[in-house]
Amino acid sequence: METNPLFETLNPPQRILMGPGPINAYPRVHQAISSALIGQYDPVMTGYMNQVQTLYRGVFETQNQQTFLIDGTARSGIEAVLVSVLQPGDKVLIPVIGRFGHLLCEIAQRIGAVIRTIDIEWGEVCPPEKVEAAIREFQPKMLATVQGDTSTTMNQPLAEFGEICQRYGVLFYCDATASIAGNDLKVDEWHLDAVSAGLQKCLGGPSGSAPVTLSERCVEVINRRKHVEAGIRTDQHQDGEDAPILSNYFDLAMIMDYWGPERLNHHTEATSMLYAARECARIYLEEGGDRVIARHKQAGQAMATGLSAMGLKLFGNQQYKMNNVVGVYIPQQADGDKVRQELLNRFGIEIGTSFGPLHGKIWRIGTMGYNARQECVLMTLAALEAVLLKAGVPVAPGQAVAAAMDIFGA
Ligand SMILES: Cc1ncc(COP(=O)(O)O)c(C=O)c1O
Repeated sequence: METNPLFETLNPPQRILMGPGPINAYPRVHQAISSALIGQYDPVMTGYMNQVQTLYRGVFETQNQQTFLIDGTARSGIEAVLVSVLQPGDKVLIPVIGRFGHLLCEIAQRIGAVIRTIDIEWGEVCPPEKVEAAIREFQPKMLATVQGDTSTTMNQPLAEFGEICQRYGVLFYCDATASIAGNDLKVDEWHLDAVSAGLQKCLGGPSGSAPVTLSERCVEVINRRKHVEAGIRTDQHQDGEDAPILSNYFDLAMIMDYWGPERLNHHTEATSMLYAARECARIYLEEGGDRVIARHKQAGQAMATGLSAMGLKLFGNQQYKMNNVVGVYIPQQADGDKVRQELLNRFGIEIGTSFGPLHGKIWRIGTMGYNARQECVLMTLAALEAVLLKAGVPVAPGQAVAAAMDIFGA
């Protein structure tokens, strides 16, 4: 009798995910996710919530009290920050270095903010002089940036932006989803007021939880919009003087009270994702942030060196390349999608395509989290070389793996 596929046990293939994210989660994260569910106000659970806050202060390199998780994919963290800070008519300055800069614009636009962009050619980053000039002229409430924009593989330097924002009294937000835990990110030292992230890149978890951190001055701005919903509101709750936040789910004023001593009954915490986020942070801090970032840098450099040794051309200004992902031009003789399919079908290796102006022009190859290690880099290079040679693309045989091995050393 034929079995109905609807009732078959889930059995996804074992893939090696070498794209721009998601990537394979650390095995310990899978174990953590399968831990027992408990009630959200169980003291054990609220204890885990407190631990998660402490762990992510370590990951973000911040003292910010308000450091917690938004339940949702990375874009939920972005949306929560933007909708909670920006009111309709507020001005926001956005350097657009790739697709995710456009995403910030899209979200800010829906909020009704007034947007000024600094449009940067894909493959480059935004110089601080441009930001300062635009801030002087436009006088925004917020500068909203993306650190690692996976669409272009560039890593936007942020240190100088923070100092400029301090001088002009502008709130400084960054989407660090793709860069956190693989590239330096110093929230307090760089004067960042709000940062949001995701688990599915260098933190080595599944997507579905967005760690965020907020500075004191950002918290003050948000709390001026405080409005506790009916049904859980008490006489003690007072509305802030500014207009309420235009989203209930992403109302950071309420969410902060949910994570704080009041334990305001906002949403039901996504327990399994909290377990995952806790384990990702624990792995990162146990290994040591500097070491994890150095591991990403080495794996990324080995991948880029191997691709070049094969004779392929790298995309973008290499001075600003993210440690954890590299863009590489698809050789003229190759069918980009067919090569990716062959890698997946014959080797179980996934690499990334690209979008916007780069669609069909480059592949994006990641080395992140659990996959920022030698075996993954060497297997991917060997497999790509074999697929390209079989397709008749003239690459230098035998060079890529050897060059990458040199980067990893003896
Ligand atoms: C820089 C950046 N921001 C935001 C996102 C969106 O993340 P999610 O799909 O988890 O919402 C991504 C995902 O690739 C990203 O690379």
